[in-house]
Amino acid sequence: MQKITIAIDGYSSCGKSTLAKALAHKLNYSYIDTGAMYRAVTVYALRNGIIDENNNINVEKLIASLDNIEVTFVFNPQTHISDTYLNNENVEREIRTMQVSSIVSKVSSIKEVREKMVALQRKMGKSKGVILDGRDIGTNVFPKAELKLFMTADGDVRAHRRLTEYSSKGQYFTLEEVKHSLLERDTEDINRKENPLIKADDAIILDNSDISREEQLEFVLKLIADLQFISRQEQSQH
Ligand code: DC
Repeated sequence: MQKITIAIDGYSSCGKSTLAKALAHKLNYSYIDTGAMYRAVTVYALRNGIIDENNNINVEKLIASLDNIEVTFVFNPQTHISDTYLNNENVEREIRTMQVSSIVSKVSSIKEVREKMVALQRKMGKSKGVILDGRDIGTNVFPKAELKLFMTADGDVRAHRRLTEYSSKGQYFTLEEVKHSLLERDTEDINRKENPLIKADDAIILDNSDISREEQLEFVLKLIADLQFISRQEQSQH
């Protein structure tokens, strides 16, 4: 089957990465978690005093530090997925904390940060057979992706899922705190100037509030099969 580029965008905690990983596994595609890249930059900024205790970012200092920040993915044979590395250190756990979640949107709204990450994403994803998830993949990073999905889900459902994820990692919050944090992030992602979160015109909306992971995967695999069928038909007509 011909390999394609799959762009998955959408709101926070909609299960984008769950779907992306399942697809990557099923199709033997590579997966690029672009949110993890902005999170790794945020970890660098927190560690180096570029973000203070009140979540104020020293934007100039961060921009000046960008050359010292290297974000890579390294395949983890135990989990069968790639871990995020910041300057050769595995930061997969650290990037998923509430502290990072509470400030990552602001970091990702800085033009120079985006330019660096988008260039890296285009380089990492240039061969077909790749799935990227994020906020601006279908609109900006790979606007010619053959399949674009825009994921959404009910706010309470999303908050519950994220709460479960946090508590499984020993981080405890109330449902309200988690919901507030993710809705705040959505608002920032939608309203920022640089490549905001917006549905690409040709993206297919996937609302997974009431469907299981398996049903969701089946739905997308069917979309891919249909795409391949249409493309084969078009080729045979020429
Ligand atoms: O997908 P995530 O929750 O790990 O993303 C973290 C933040 O990074 C998100 O709030 C917005 C930002 N982001 C972005 O601006 N563009 C992307 N392509 C991916 C993430």
